[in-house]
Amino acid sequence: MTQSSVFSPFTLPCGRVLKNRIVKAAMEENLATAEQTPGAQLRTLYQSWAQGGAGLLITGNVMVDRLAMTGPAGVVLENEAHLNDFKRWAKAAQTHDAQIWMQINHPGRQVFAKLGGKSVSPSDVAIDIGKHSALFVRPKPLTESEILDVIARFVNTAKLAEKAGFDGVQIHGAHGYLLAQFLSPLTNKRNDKWGGTLENRARILIEIIKGVREQVGPSFAVAVKLNSADFQRGGFDIDDAEQVVAMLHGLGVDVVELSGGSYESPAMQGRTADQRTLAREAYFIDFAKRIAEKSAIPIMTTGGVTRLATAEMVLSHQVELVGLARALAFNPSLPNQWLKTPALEGSIPQVHWKDKTMGALAVMAIIKRNLRRLSRNKVPAGGLSPIWTLLIDQFRTHRLTKRYRKRILLEKR
Ligand SMILES: Cc1cc2nc3c(=O)[nH]c(=O)nc-3n(C[C@H](O)[C@H](O)[C@H](O)COP(=O)(O)O)c2cc1C
Repeated sequence: MTQSSVFSPFTLPCGRVLKNRIVKAAMEENLATAEQTPGAQLRTLYQSWAQGGAGLLITGNVMVDRLAMTGPAGVVLENEAHLNDFKRWAKAAQTHDAQIWMQINHPGRQVFAKLGGKSVSPSDVAIDIGKHSALFVRPKPLTESEILDVIARFVNTAKLAEKAGFDGVQIHGAHGYLLAQFLSPLTNKRNDKWGGTLENRARILIEIIKGVREQVGPSFAVAVKLNSADFQRGGFDIDDAEQVVAMLHGLGVDVVELSGGSYESPAMQGRTADQRTLAREAYFIDFAKRIAEKSAIPIMTTGGVTRLATAEMVLSHQVELVGLARALAFNPSLPNQWLKTPALEGSIPQVHWKDKTMGALAVMAIIKRNLRRLSRNKVPAGGLSPIWTLLIDQFRTHRLTKRYRKRILLEKR
């Protein structure tokens, strides 16, 4: 049997060599310590992914500002106070020849109202998810100096990630978070140099990439996660994505990972608000194919991959890396098992509730429950009750939100 191209090494533009083409895509773990740092649970979790055979592990989003969080137990990296914890996290992941990139992010307006902290955006456009919109507050438009502060924060976190021994960073420009809010004409109504034309809307992303590249070594990988589209009428679309990828040429970007969607249109879970259909497997392959044809920057795509044959199909379209998230929460050893059993299929939980938002939250809760199991050296569990798991998740989030508000928000006053 000829070995699948999935298991061939890949040399990044920065010179680092990944042992194979399978990437554990970012999944926010919500497993940080009370100091918002990585502890034993995150080390165990990443050890299990490294042992499972993926060539590259991308962390769940690490926040560049402790006052702007996607969840109450998110990891924050703002200074050197806990750098040793980050060094230990990187080391734990770098076993079995796996490499680790830190995904760095700012949520912008996608901050839960109950969590508190800052809710900012290019403009004051509130999130619209119908009857659940009150989960979020209307964001404050960023001032020019606040935009410069955000850029400096991304650069600083990337520099610290390198210092902690990570192999690279991935700048999160997708899924409706702050950088995607700048890119989308639906959320960016500015008429200064940070809004209007696509060039202006992409300025913050470009400035961050330039700043990071300037501050890190040439062999440190710098990647970007970008939406292939927002999947909302009048939003950021594939033509925009193609142009943004073209703008990244010459900036020393190692990989662009293509995904899609936001809290308003969760295309990354395979469901869109504008009713456009995605591929049944490898949701964004048509978009990735189109961009990969023209891009000198290596392209990766993530979404809906559970089978080796699908991963191979993705790579047959000039896409260099294939990301898996949910399937690796159920089976972290899927890559190694594919070597022996190529027909083995990974699984992604499905919850078909009438309330699609709650259904999506239940899927996330099931995945996160399994991440917690893995982080305690337990095997992942199939067949978890969606309603029960969602309740457990909400109870846990409530408890951790209280912890975050007490320790992080109140201490600042
Ligand atoms: C629990 C959970 C947390 C996630 N957190 C992140 C994140 O922090 N950053 C990110 O870019 N994507 C995040 N994602 C999206 C995944 O990276 C991926 O794009 C999406 O799950 C589709 O891939 P899959 O079908 O292989 O799961 C998350 C997904 C899940 C299920």
